[in-house]
Amino acid sequence: MSIAFKSPIFDVKNLNFSASGQDILAHISLEIFHGEYIAIIGPNGGGKTTLIRLLLGLEKPTTGNIKIFGKDLKHFKEWNKIGFVPQRAAQVDQNFPATALDIVRMGRTSKRKLFSRESEEDIQAVDDAMAKMDILNLKDKMVGTLSGGQRQRVMIARALASNPEILILDEPNTGVDIVSQQNFYKLLSKLNKEENITIVFITHDIGVIADDIGRLFTINQKAIICNDPKAALSCEDMSDLYGISAHLVHNHKHEH
Ligand SMILES: Nc1ncnc2c1ncn2[C@@H]1O[C@H](COP(=O)(O)OP(=O)(O)OP(=O)(O)O)[C@@H](O)[C@H]1O
Ligand SMILES: [Mg+2]
Repeated sequence: MSIAFKSPIFDVKNLNFSASGQDILAHISLEIFHGEYIAIIGPNGGGKTTLIRLLLGLEKPTTGNIKIFGKDLKHFKEWNKIGFVPQRAAQVDQNFPATALDIVRMGRTSKRKLFSRESEEDIQAVDDAMAKMDILNLKDKMVGTLSGGQRQRVMIARALASNPEILILDEPNTGVDIVSQQNFYKLLSKLNKEENITIVFITHDIGVIADDIGRLFTINQKAIICNDPKAALSCEDMSDLYGISAHLVHNHKHEH
């Protein structure tokens, strides 16, 4: 089947979300297609996390329509097709009683009946996910003792363990040093290109990855969708929405 005939992974029509008498998101319409690599930017409080929570059914829209893999969100059940790494997922207590391996194994529980034994397939998927994130050497370490960047990789491996078709990451890079960040983006890009995993991630440092990403969504109550991130500055209303976008969106290609 040609990709052109597949329905989008997410199809969002005229989504509105208000809470405590405030409009948080208004008139959001967007589609996310198989194989895309999308970055979402926007000011603090602009509604990025809320949009993702709406897409995942964790928050109910005031009005509007969301389809996932062609199905209305309320009928959608195949959540293992979607890997999600929430904002601040990597912040765990130092004494959190689990190893990196334990955490990644949790990514398989939706595929398995509760309390059933781990199958060969589960073991293999966990191992593959850890290999992809280059953390096999951290297997037996307690997560609380890992560095922030290492813990982030563990959380992403957990999301990958269910072999998702799409990976959604909410600011996966906060507090990670610049070299680790660049390696991390290379890794995401590899997952996208070589494993054909659709990637959507929220970030505040779009400059580092402007070369790679396919589309850029700017969210500040409404959404501006930029099909060519390198031309983001010329996107209609972009500077109005983001205020300082001129400093955030630039191309690093020639600086290395
Ligand atoms: N359930 C809710 N009830 C009340 N207010 C909410 C609710 N969910 C989100 N908000 C508000 O909506 C706004 C958007 O929040 P959100 O967390 O989506 O922003 P964000 O773009 O992810 O910001 P950041 O970059 O700081 O993570 C905030 O003002 C927040 O307080
Ligand atoms: Mg957020």
